[in-house]
Amino acid sequence: MFSKRLIELASLIPTHSTVVDVGCDHALLDIYLTINRHCKCTASDISENCLEKAKLNLKKFKLEKEIPLVLSDGLNNVEYNNSDYIVIAGMGTETILKILEKCTADNIIVQTNTDIFDFRETITDNFIIENEKVVYDKKVFYVLMKLKRGKKKYNYSDYLIGPVIKKQKTGVYKKYKEYLFDKYSEIYNNLKNTSFSIEKMNKRLEIKAYLNMIKRYSK
Ligand SMILES: C[S@@+](CC[C@H](N)C(=O)[O-])C[C@H]1O[C@@H](n2cnc3c(N)ncnc32)[C@H](O)[C@@H]1O
Repeated sequence: MFSKRLIELASLIPTHSTVVDVGCDHALLDIYLTINRHCKCTASDISENCLEKAKLNLKKFKLEKEIPLVLSDGLNNVEYNNSDYIVIAGMGTETILKILEKCTADNIIVQTNTDIFDFRETITDNFIIENEKVVYDKKVFYVLMKLKRGKKKYNYSDYLIGPVIKKQKTGVYKKYKEYLFDKYSEIYNNLKNTSFSIEKMNKRLEIKAYLNMIKRYSK
């Protein structure tokens, strides 16, 4: 019932925290955090159908009175303190960045399903990437991040691989870098096999630089 990804997301949140789960869907993270990490959660979602699904799960675990459900686009209808943990997981970069634009909290847990390079590049204008975890769950690699409000200098290898992930050399981190290398190699080869243009040549040079970076941090 609780996926490896959800359990790893929960592990980034200290016990006894107050948490707002934006886009809770089934509210399984909130249930797990309440039972196993003694957190005080609010589960919110933009979709009434998802909140109905969440309500059934809360009933199953007898947690209806402990976890409030809130219908909300992002954090618009949710009350929170800046010290609360805000979780935004399982959405695309564009949606997450839009939600974060109006967010004033200091501690954020995110997992974007798309454009992780763009996500890191944009978010580091306002946040430090304090921790990252790679999870391999049901044949998919997920990158989970803990952000803290602040400013730090980052470079392209941080955006591409991740400032924490790039320093990890073993286990799932090693496998994730191999996956990244294969992904960018395929893009590079596809570009090589198409007709010539300056844009494609520049893109190829960019991808080649990415491949060199991944190789460097895989050793
Ligand atoms: C794929 S589910 C992810 C559920 C859960 N967070 C997880 O990681 O397993 C995405 C959820 O985000 C919700 N969602 C999408 N845009 C949203 C927004 N702007 N505000 C709140 N929830 C949103 C969807 O309704 C859906 O329930």
